[in-house]
Amino acid sequence: MKKRNESKILIIVAMMWSAVAISSFPHVSSAAVTSNGNAETGKQLFEKRCTGCHSLDNNKEGPRLRSVYGRHAGSVSDFSYSNELKAAHIVWDEQSLDQWLTNPDAVVPDNDMAFHVPNPQERADIIQFLRLSSGK
Ligand code: HEC
Repeated sequence: MKKRNESKILIIVAMMWSAVAISSFPHVSSAAVTSNGNAETGKQLFEKRCTGCHSLDNNKEGPRLRSVYGRHAGSVSDFSYSNELKAAHIVWDEQSLDQWLTNPDAVVPDNDMAFHVPNPQERADIIQFLRLSSGK
C-alpha cells in the first residue's frame, strides 16, 4: 500500500515538472510554425540581390520595401507600378512573398519585376529580414 502511494506521488511530481517545462518555453512551439529564415543572412542577401532595384526607404527601379510585410501589393502611392501589380489583390506575407520571389510572373503575369530567387532557404532568410524591417 505504501509503495503504491509513493509511485503516485512520483507521477504527480513528474507531471508538475513537465507542466513547468512546457510553460517556461512557449516560444519553442510557436517558432516551429513561423518562418525558418535567418534575418541576419537575409539582410546580407537583400543587400546583394535586391538593392540594385530596391531600398528599404527609397523608391528606385522597384518600390521601397520597408513595411512591405503586411502591405497590399502595389500600394506605395508615389511609385509607378505596372497596372497588373496594382490590380492584384495580394497582401504580402510569408506565403505570398515566397511565391513572388520564386516566380513573380506566376503570381502576377506581366508585372515589371524581372528577377527571382530560386533557393528556398535564401527566400526564407530574405522574407524574415523583410518581416522584421516591417516591424512584424
Ligand atoms: C531588376 C530589378 C529588381 C530586382 C533585382 C528586384 N526587384 Fe523587386 N521589384 C522590381 C520592380 C520593378 C517592382 C514593381 C513591379 C510592378 O510594378 O509590376 C518590384 C516589386 C517588388 C515587390 C512588390 C512590392 C509592392 O509594393 O507591392 C516586392 C515584395 C519585391 N519587389 C521584392 C524584391 C526582393 C525581396 C528582391 C531581392 C530578392 C527584389 N525584389 C529584387 C524590381 C526588382
